[in-house]
Order: sequence, then structure tokens, then C-alpha cells
Amino acid sequence: MLDHDDLPFAETRSPLPGLLVCRRGLFASVAAACAATGLPGASPHWQERRAPDDGFTIEEFVRSVTPVCKELLADRSQRGQDRYLLTLAAFAVRLATVPVPESREVKPGHRIGSNHDPEPFTVLHWQLERGIEIAPHAHTYGNVVTLGLTGSALVANYETVAPPDFDSQEDFVVQRTVEQVLRPGDVNLVNLERHYVHGFVAGPDGASGLDITTRIRERRRAPLLEVGEAIEGGLRQFRARWRQS
Ligand SMILES: [Fe+2]
Repeated sequence: MLDHDDLPFAETRSPLPGLLVCRRGLFASVAAACAATGLPGASPHWQERRAPDDGFTIEEFVRSVTPVCKELLADRSQRGQDRYLLTLAAFAVRLATVPVPESREVKPGHRIGSNHDPEPFTVLHWQLERGIEIAPHAHTYGNVVTLGLTGSALVANYETVAPPDFDSQEDFVVQRTVEQVLRPGDVNLVNLERHYVHGFVAGPDGASGLDITTRIRERRRAPLLEVGEAIEGGLRQFRARWRQS
């Protein structure tokens, strides 16, 4: 989880170059998701509550998605996390204007605050000035839905090619699995089995967004990823090593 409370990895530096629940429960989840997202099958409650271009407040978002979250969190496999994150994202993209909470500067040009915590997830609100980087870092115990709010940022996700050893002192090979320009309303997902390293570089107008993080494993420190030279012939593969924070 990107608990930005312990954000030694949120260093400010120059950007890198180049940058089964039971059947009844399942249907209940789908019905609830449809109700909140406006998909076919939406409930009368949803249809009457808002026009399509209106959005959730943070409080409405949390209240609406919490029952579904608690059910989907029972499956913590890769696929279960995908179901959870995609469902959470479907609710998150319905957020309207999100208020900027009281925040603190972690590093020059990088501020964080919180719109909600701690259950069933934290909603961390980050703000980056132009060109500021959040260095690539592994998520080892909390999966994440990132939602862009303002500006734009270049986001990259990585995985180790071999099974990850977060305590390794040796070099290893990573694959950059996602390269994305995160704009307002875009989402980026961190599953603890896939895309579990992410990093950000703010665009020319800066950027802000939410990291909606759900802790599903025992907490531990998350290492930074130092990305080295590209591997010839590899598909977005690079030599890399961990730097413990
Ligand atoms: Fe993170």
C-alpha cells in the first residue's frame, strides 16, 4: 500500500529518462455495482437519485461501494483482486469534484492528504507539481486503484519476470507492463500479483489524483525499484534492483 505516511520512496528527483463467493452473493454484487454505475439492471433508487452527469461525493462513494468491497475481498487471488479493483474503479470513476483535503508536503512539489480512512480502504489525495516524480515502488500488502483528478502524469507499472523476492540484494529483470498517461477520470490498477510496482512523473501542468488502497496482507516496508538498462530483445524488459526504503 502506498501509505504515504512512510514515503521515503516518494522522492523528488529528476524524472527517469524516456520515460467464488456463493452464487447469491455474486449476483448481489453485480446488482449493487449496476445500481451504482448506471449499467443495465440499475435499481430504481439509482435511476431516481441523480442525472447521469452528476457524481458521487466521497461519502456517497464509500457508502455505496463498501458492501460490495467486503464481499469481493473474500477472494484475494489474482483474479479475485482484479474483480475487486475493477469493481472499485467502476464506482470511483463516478466521483464528482473531489475536495482537496488538508495536506502536508512530503517532498518539495509533492503533497498528500486524505479524503477517507481507514476502512474498508484509504483514499489518499496526492498533488504533484510539474515534473515531480514519485519513484517506482513495490506494493506488497495493499492493492490500489489510482484515479486521476487534475492535470496529467506519466504512470509506469512493473513486475519482476521471476517470482518477486522483495528482500533480494541482487540484480533481476523486470517488465514494464503498463505505460500510461493518467488524465482526469483515468484509472490505473495495482494488483499485488500484477503491475505491483508503480511510479509517476507529473506532466507540464502538474497532476493530482487519488490512491484508493486496500490492505489485504500483513504490512511491511515497500522497496523502491531502481530501473536500469533495457534488455535487448526483451519486450519492455529492464535490469533492475531493489533499494530498501
Ligand atoms: Fe504507490
